[in-house]
Amino acid sequence: MDNNFTKSDMDSVIKLVKKKNIILTQSKNVKEFEKKWSKWVGTKYSVFVNSGSSANFITISALKTLNKNKNKNEIIVPTLTWVSDINSVIMNGFKPVFVDINLSNLSMNTDQVIKKISKKTLAVFITHAQGFNGLDDKLVSTLKKKKIHLIEDVCESHGATYNKKKLGSYGLISNFSFYYAHHLTTIEGGMACTNDKKIYETLKMLRSHGMIRESGNEQYEKKTLKKNKDLSPKFIFLHPTLNFRNNEIGAVIGINQLKSLDKNNNQRAKNFKLFLDLLDGKKYFKSFNLEGNSNYAFPIILQTKDLKIRDYFEKKLKIANIEFRRGNAGGGNQLRQPYIKNIVKNVNLNNFKNVEHVHFFGYYIGNYPSLKSKKIIKITNFLNRLDL
Ligand SMILES: Cc1ncc(COP(=O)(O)O)c(C=O)c1O
Repeated sequence: MDNNFTKSDMDSVIKLVKKKNIILTQSKNVKEFEKKWSKWVGTKYSVFVNSGSSANFITISALKTLNKNKNKNEIIVPTLTWVSDINSVIMNGFKPVFVDINLSNLSMNTDQVIKKISKKTLAVFITHAQGFNGLDDKLVSTLKKKKIHLIEDVCESHGATYNKKKLGSYGLISNFSFYYAHHLTTIEGGMACTNDKKIYETLKMLRSHGMIRESGNEQYEKKTLKKNKDLSPKFIFLHPTLNFRNNEIGAVIGINQLKSLDKNNNQRAKNFKLFLDLLDGKKYFKSFNLEGNSNYAFPIILQTKDLKIRDYFEKKLKIANIEFRRGNAGGGNQLRQPYIKNIVKNVNLNNFKNVEHVHFFGYYIGNYPSLKSKKIIKITNFLNRLDL
């Protein structure tokens, strides 16, 4: 990856800190960034937080807070995702129900999702992995028919679309990450987006100690005050949570970054097309579904299932100084991670063939706006020459 934090971002920070009597904690720039982000994604509301993981956490916390049917305690999740998606589910007391992925979009397999839906299913928490759209008509219509919430993790796919509409605008709540390597950065940061006012108010409380005054709903605040006359009005904590706020510095960086997001995404798309056009399909998987994709990384999935060849591949990349990550999104199959072993037991990994392939033979390398065609040609020539 290259540094996505520009001189003009730095200038926007300097301009902010040079102001007299500035507020640097969450204030009007955070509000402005949220408003602009909502407009860009196509949702009514956004809540700026200090990471994508925090967005994941308050999202599932909001589901828990507003869920009236406590028998619905299962959330269907992908095996290929970031660890915070699964931990948000577990830490909020829900049971994660895992499904395999498709190689074509690295996202959940719709047929498996539908098979795993039960009376207990509250939501499907999809991850649009590495810039690919994970939605299809069958999934969207089934969830609608069965009244199961769709939650979208778009942390790796800013600007990707389904049916020409941005991902993140379909789910009841959607999440974005603004970590350094992603399409847009606030250094660390994230966003939770929704069209639902009540969820929006709940997310704002969950971001900030569970405090009622953060909801922004005066009537609700007054009503709660009446019921809690023994409490200090400014310190009424409604929900068990922590502090996940971001700040004004993050917000001005985000506002500035947003100005070039579309342009940068277009460049990443051009890079991606060139990379895939040049890559040898006999050695590397190339049958991706490219409709609506917006990739900040190049996926490199080996066709081989031979670990010795895999080790040779890694050795060659290291010698050539090409930085890579194995396991595609989040290091591969979450079901293989130590943290999950005591929570999900008796797993038959044979039921998760695609994520298993990606776990051992899938990689990604960086795709960034300043990457030059010459370098992409050099890398693909190098990859195609390898004896796989
Ligand atoms: C799919 C996905 N979800 C959530 C996160 C968490 O975001 P953050 O690193 O900002 O906490 C990431 C991080 O890369 C991610 O890839």
